[in-house]
Amino acid sequence: MKRLIMIGASGHGKVCADIAEQMGVWDEIVFADDHPPAAYPYRIIGKTDDVADGDADFFVAIGDAQIREKITGRLKKSVTLIHPRAVIGGDVAIGNGCVVMAGAVINSGTTIGDGVIINTCSSVDHDCKLDDYVHVAVGAHLCGMVRIGKSTWIGAGSTVKNNISICGGCMIGAGAVVVQNIAEAGTYMGVPAKKRK
Ligand SMILES: CC(C)(COP(=O)(O)OP(=O)(O)OC[C@H]1O[C@@H](n2cnc3c(N)ncnc32)[C@H](O)[C@@H]1OP(=O)(O)O)[C@@H](O)C(=O)NCCC(=O)NCCS
Repeated sequence: MKRLIMIGASGHGKVCADIAEQMGVWDEIVFADDHPPAAYPYRIIGKTDDVADGDADFFVAIGDAQIREKITGRLKKSVTLIHPRAVIGGDVAIGNGCVVMAGAVINSGTTIGDGVIINTCSSVDHDCKLDDYVHVAVGAHLCGMVRIGKSTWIGAGSTVKNNISICGGCMIGAGAVVVQNIAEAGTYMGVPAKKRK
């Protein structure tokens, strides 16, 4: 029997589990969580540390990039989940422990690291490079040849102009439009996006 253990019984976890179900690869999908909610649509089998790295596949469904990295790093078989209705170019490279959600589009020549979240209806155009643990939130758009550094969060509904580089450790606010390179970690918001004082 093929079992998938998801870490993180949250709203994000529920969406990821639904994608895993639609992929039809696993016979059983269960969760582990250190602070389990009172009610949850999937069975919770214990806390994160109780979960042995045995025969099961794993997926870390945690939005916080640092926690996602910490837990993903100690699991051997972190699978990538891809919604059947995501559109992905044939030469796109995607690492381990990523999720690509419904309606997302990733175009040709793009490379995506480990533990990356490409959220619902977001797009990553041609020849982009996303480092590990990036999150492209719901409805955000990266134009062509954009580079995003490790653990940066691209906020919901934001846009990054073509050819832009954003360094690691940034938070780009919801609805922001990034038109210049960002070389210093921090929170950026607005149109055009500026660093928050
Ligand atoms: C940018 C962000 C991180 C700032 O969060 P925060 O540090 O808690 O900021 P606050 O809510 O305290 O707001 C601080 C100020 O910034 C403004 N602000 C907050 N978010 C903003 C945004 N996205 N664009 C423009 N201004 C914003 C607030 O209005 C407030 O202004 P004021 O000081 O004049 O009253 C957050 O608002 C955001 O946009 N997060 C992204 C959420 C997201 O993408 N979710 C996706 C889930 S899939």
